[in-house]
Amino acid sequence: MVAPAPRGGSDGRRGRPGAGPHGRAGLYHAPVAPGTRLVAIADEAAVCTRCPLAATRTQVVFGVGDPDADLLFVGEAPGRDEDLQGEPFVGRSGKLLDRLLDEELGIDRSAVYIANVVKCRPPDNRDPRPEEITACRPYLTEQVSLIAPRVVVTLGNFATKLLLDTDQGITKLRGASYPVGDTVLVPTFHPAAALRGGGVVLAQMRADFVRAKQLIGPVA
Ligand code: URA
Repeated sequence: MVAPAPRGGSDGRRGRPGAGPHGRAGLYHAPVAPGTRLVAIADEAAVCTRCPLAATRTQVVFGVGDPDADLLFVGEAPGRDEDLQGEPFVGRSGKLLDRLLDEELGIDRSAVYIANVVKCRPPDNRDPRPEEITACRPYLTEQVSLIAPRVVVTLGNFATKLLLDTDQGITKLRGASYPVGDTVLVPTFHPAAALRGGGVVLAQMRADFVRAKQLIGPVA
């Protein structure tokens, strides 16, 4: 499969008045909107047994952040810290994500929404398996559709390949944005790659975060 052509020019904003990184913020983690479909899905996911990861997880890590966010980050899968705390990106990768949000966008994680491709930790942090991704995919699909962000930033290969429906790797795809449905996707490296790879990867991530910020544009 080949990724769709990168988007040029237009910024893909959909004009949702009032919503945005500087708008109302709330952590799903401490549900702010009981009775909403997002909460219903999170409740359903909390007892999910659709794949074998259910047997080894401590808890389901559904997602965290502003359910009306203009910016949605999608990572790979919870690690040990996330499995214990029930929140995505709270370990070393998460600290780097927080830092990039602060330094490049001037916001903190409560202003965005953060989710993963799979909601349960793969044992020993192994890669998620295709059947696990397939079983978990409906949750992410619903998150994207309900949050309806202006921009989705995919962190690393798993999220990028899934949401762009491509076999191409992140190194090739990053540095551009791609229209996907009503949103625009900005692929970037997983923070763990920057922690391993150092300055060049980190600089490229910074550029991708700036691209996402420009695509969101000014918020009312
Ligand atoms: N890596 C991910 O991809 N997701 C997390 O939540 C934590 C680390």
